[in-house]
Amino acid sequence: MLTQKHLIDIFDFSTEEVDSILHLSQLMIKSPSDFSTICNGKIMGTLFFEPSTRTRLSFESAMLRLGGQVLGFSDSSNSSATKGETLVDTIQTVCHYTDLIVMRHPNEGSATLAKTKASVPLINAGDGGHHHPTQTLTDLLTIQQTKGHLDGLTIGLCGDLKFGRTVHSLIRAMGRYPGNHFILISPRELQLPDYMMHFLNSQGISYEVHEELEAVIDQLDVLYMTRVQRERFFNEADYVRLKDHYILTADKLTQAKEDLAILHPLPRVNEISVEVDDDPRAKYFDQAGYGVFVRMALIAKVLGVDSNDAH
Ligand code: CP
Repeated sequence: MLTQKHLIDIFDFSTEEVDSILHLSQLMIKSPSDFSTICNGKIMGTLFFEPSTRTRLSFESAMLRLGGQVLGFSDSSNSSATKGETLVDTIQTVCHYTDLIVMRHPNEGSATLAKTKASVPLINAGDGGHHHPTQTLTDLLTIQQTKGHLDGLTIGLCGDLKFGRTVHSLIRAMGRYPGNHFILISPRELQLPDYMMHFLNSQGISYEVHEELEAVIDQLDVLYMTRVQRERFFNEADYVRLKDHYILTADKLTQAKEDLAILHPLPRVNEISVEVDDDPRAKYFDQAGYGVFVRMALIAKVLGVDSNDAH
């Protein structure tokens, strides 16, 4: 049962609970009108202390498509945080106005802190370089829709594996399905942080490390490209040196499998050439669309209004 649960880290939900969200998402894709009133009378709060396009708008679209309503802010400079209000005071206040809170915050651990004072479900929409579990649900749904299954896949993760919170959450989630093999492709400075390497090793998850995409692209079932995260660098010179390290081009894709699925959480800067957008293997804009359905399913589950689900 996911009713009234918080989602801070994808591991807050069991594999069975994640699968139940994916199943409900698929029902919603097939027949969205069956679910268009299930959140009547419910209000979702969106507290975005950091910029977002996809996460905030897809959550808002999801709630509106379920018949619910939305309030919140997308620019915390218009909130009382600028007067020195603490995060937990903001959360304790907004719980009185809403049935569910979706929060993005630049500080790692902020969502864990916020949930201690949340009397309604609190969904982490990204806390610094830490976790982004609803992007992971989006990624899982995209992989399931494009590959047909979530196990037995060779998954290349390319780019900024150090600061990329979506990569950390995706490894944790896909590592729970049997037979998956990860190929970690990054410059040495942007390799996975030690705690993630420890996680892979302690869980006995199969992986290998490479610096060059061309050396492994022919092996991949899924290629997950990421942006070098300028906002998390301490040093502009390091960002400039590393930002163009990997650019996926049509030429590089000539070596890839015909049924490769190319994902990217977006926004992209220039790590995928726009010519790749027309390749049928490019799934990243479909992925942004699946984010609406998976968030509809998540909202329905945590609010306990998913009775239209025959699962
Ligand atoms: N993928 C993602 O989190 O995008 P936004 O930053 O636009 O929400």
